Order: sequence, then C-alpha cells, then structure tokens
Amino acid sequence: MHEFKYRDQRLVCESVDLDEIAERYGTPVYVYSAATLRNNYRRLEKSLEGLNTRICYALKANSNLAVLRVMANLGASFDLVSGGEIRRVLEAGGRVDRSVFAGVGKTSEEIERALRNGIFSFHVESEPELERIDRIASGIGVKAPVAVRVNPDVDAGTHAKITTGRSENKFGVPFDRAPDVYALAAKLRNIEIRGVQIHIGSQITKTEPFVAAIEKMRPLVTELKQRYGIGYFSIGGGLGIAYESALASGEAAWWEREDGGKHLLTPERYGRAVAPLLRDLDLEILLEPGRFLAGNAGVLLTRVEYVKHSGDRNFVIVDAAMNDLLRPAMYEAYHEIVPVAEGELAFTADIVGPVCESGDCFAKGRRLAATREGDVMAVLSAGAYGYVMAGRYNTRPMPAEVLVDGDRAAEVTARETFEQLIAHERIPEFL
Ligand code: LLP
Repeated sequence: MHEFKYRDQRLVCESVDLDEIAERYGTPVYVYSAATLRNNYRRLEKSLEGLNTRICYALKANSNLAVLRVMANLGASFDLVSGGEIRRVLEAGGRVDRSVFAGVGKTSEEIERALRNGIFSFHVESEPELERIDRIASGIGVKAPVAVRVNPDVDAGTHAKITTGRSENKFGVPFDRAPDVYALAAKLRNIEIRGVQIHIGSQITKTEPFVAAIEKMRPLVTELKQRYGIGYFSIGGGLGIAYESALASGEAAWWEREDGGKHLLTPERYGRAVAPLLRDLDLEILLEPGRFLAGNAGVLLTRVEYVKHSGDRNFVIVDAAMNDLLRPAMYEAYHEIVPVAEGELAFTADIVGPVCESGDCFAKGRRLAATREGDVMAVLSAGAYGYVMAGRYNTRPMPAEVLVDGDRAAEVTARETFEQLIAHERIPEFL
C-alpha cells in the first residue's frame, strides 16, 4: 500500500497536505513517504519468509540520504554501483560490509574503496574485471569476495532500454561461459568465491521471467555450491510497480495484462512463484529491489503555468520538465498525473513541460479535471528513477526533495540555486 490518497478531496501524503508542501517548498518538488518505503520493505521481506534473505536496496533508484537512512534503519543492505554510492551509504549510516558492489565498469579507485570498506561481495561482470579486483586486493593485502553475474539469456518482456538478461546485452557473463569464469576466479589468489548473481531487467510485470531465469540457473547454482562452497544466490531486482491506476489501486504492486484484463501481481505472488525454486538450494538469497521499494513511495509536484488551446488540442504547461523527470521522454513511460485538489474529469489535454523540445511531454491526451493556472498536480510513481536521473538542461536547477513521515515533513534536498548551478564553471583567462 502506498500513502498517497485523497482526504476531503485534497491529496495527502500520509497526514500531510500536498498543496501545503507545494506552497512551503515550491515546485517542482519530489515528495516521499517514509511509511510507504517501510511498508514496501517489510512486505517484500514477508513475502519471502522462511528463506534466508538479504534485501540489498538498489539505491540507483533513489539515493537521497534521508531515504537511505530509512532503509538503513530497517536493516537493509545495499546494491551499490559507484564509489559515490558507497560514500552515500556510509554518510547515511548504512552497512557497506553487508552490501554488494555491481556494475560493468568498476574503476580501480572504486574497487579499492569497496575493499577498504569491507564490501560483502563484488558482482563481477567479466574476466578482466576479476583479474583487476585480484590485483588490487593483492596490493592492499586482502582477499576480495566475489560473485559472478551470469546472464541467463531470458526475455524479461520489458522496455528494450531496461532489459538486461539477454545474451546481446552488455551485462554479466554468458551462461555457458560461467564455469570457466569461476574456474579462473578459483585460481586467483586474492579472490574468494562467495556467491552467484543474476538480474534480468527492470519493471518486470509477470512472474514467468523470474521463474524461467531461476529455473535455468538452478543446476549451475547447485554445481557452484558443491564445487566452490558458495553461500549465496542473488536473484537481482526488477519487480515492477503499478504506473497505471497507481492511485486507485493503492497497491505497492504491479499490473499484468492478459486477454485485455488485468490483475495485481503482488510481492506475495512473486514470493509464491520463486520461493519453491529457492528453498532447497539452502543458500542465502539476496534481492536487489530498487523500483519496488521506492517507486510508489514518491510523487513529483508541479504547478500549472498555462493552459493553452491550440487548434483542437489542449496543453497544460507545467513548471516541471524532462530535466526533472526524464522517464516519459526517455522511455515513453506512463505516469499517472492527478490534481492535488480532486475534481470531476472535464477535458482532455497533453501535459507538457517548458523545455524547448517536443519530447518534453509528461502525458498525451489525458482526461483531466478542470485545470487552471496555479493549480498543483502530482505526477505519481515518481519515487524511483526520478530525482536521480534529473539534470539541468535549459539551465533549470535541480528540484527540491521532501520526506514525509506521519504528520511531519522535512526538506531533504534543498532546491538548487543559480549560484550553485554555475559554481563549477570557469571562464578561462585567455578569453
Ligand atoms: N540490480 C541490478 C544489477 C540492476 O542493474 C538494477 C537496475 C537493479 C538491481 C534494480 O532494478 P529495479 O528493482 O529498480 O528494477 N532508469 C530505468 C531503470 C533502470 C534500471 C537499471 N538497473 C527506469 O527509469 O525505468
């Protein structure tokens, strides 16, 4: 369940009125619900009860320090992909020594930082990376714990830009080559084989791809356990969320469409599908959810600047743009958009930002309530891959972020000022 709903026709996050947040902190502003983050975490944990699990929050989805603190307080581990993310987790009081370090392009500096902070395991994506980790570990006199990311070559049935488990992707080592890569790892003196990992893609809305990937991996996992005594199997992240009807469903879950119909695919359903395939492996099971934990725990508030009628189309021009929330422009992603003051559906419009590109469009042909200049709208399911993918295109400052917990709200990232935005730029003397 997420904590965004109408109360007396006003949209609230937990007990806080979103119109007041827009008033107090300005727009565009991301707003996160701490209770939703906690609910999502506990619900996922519970759906795999009985297994020995470790949830490694993929902070690439939302790496705000306050969000990380909420996760750390829940006992979460983390899925890290950069030296910067390692530092963030440390800043937030999280456990790097219970976290994993992933990514196809780890630099020497990042590897060393991870080792010096006692990383639980590296998720290795190639042989040259394995050799580099061995060298660096030897240089500082430690053994580097690793798991190899194996590409099981299954189709996750998701957007081309976020599917990762096919053999043509850059990720992991091909399934058939995995035994050789483990053999190399076993030969390297400063490498300790600790586990095996897969991740097949993101925003996966069915159980089948997860099941197919785990089934394909089972014989290999068993062999690796016998041969190298691995202690864990990471089944990655990728659990999708509801983007359509996100408000009405009130669900921290995702839709599956079959025969035109749809039903909720909940974490419980995910758990029921995968747990039976994992139990007898008798290994620690790592999960790397990002979107599932953070996605529906956040919205982007934006204020209407103009309502424009152009030929037979209506445009609602808002003060957020593709630089603030890139997903619609980049993936043609659907986000539900609702007014913070509830109203009857009255007209159809495109909701667009002010950036000078036609791709700067949040929604096309949406049914909306009567909308006027100054109204505040909420772009839903924006808690994951929202702020973290924001930029400064058109010299638009980075937006603010606010965290709500019960009846309290706090600005957890201040809106960037113009001075901060240009602070790293220099005009050389020779000009
Ligand atoms: N583990 C690995 C190795 C990953 O590459 C990812 C995401 C995750 C875990 C977390 O996946 P999640 O549970 O969030 O699906 N920017 C895109 C999503 C990119 C996902 C990249 N990898 C979007 O906005 O849809």
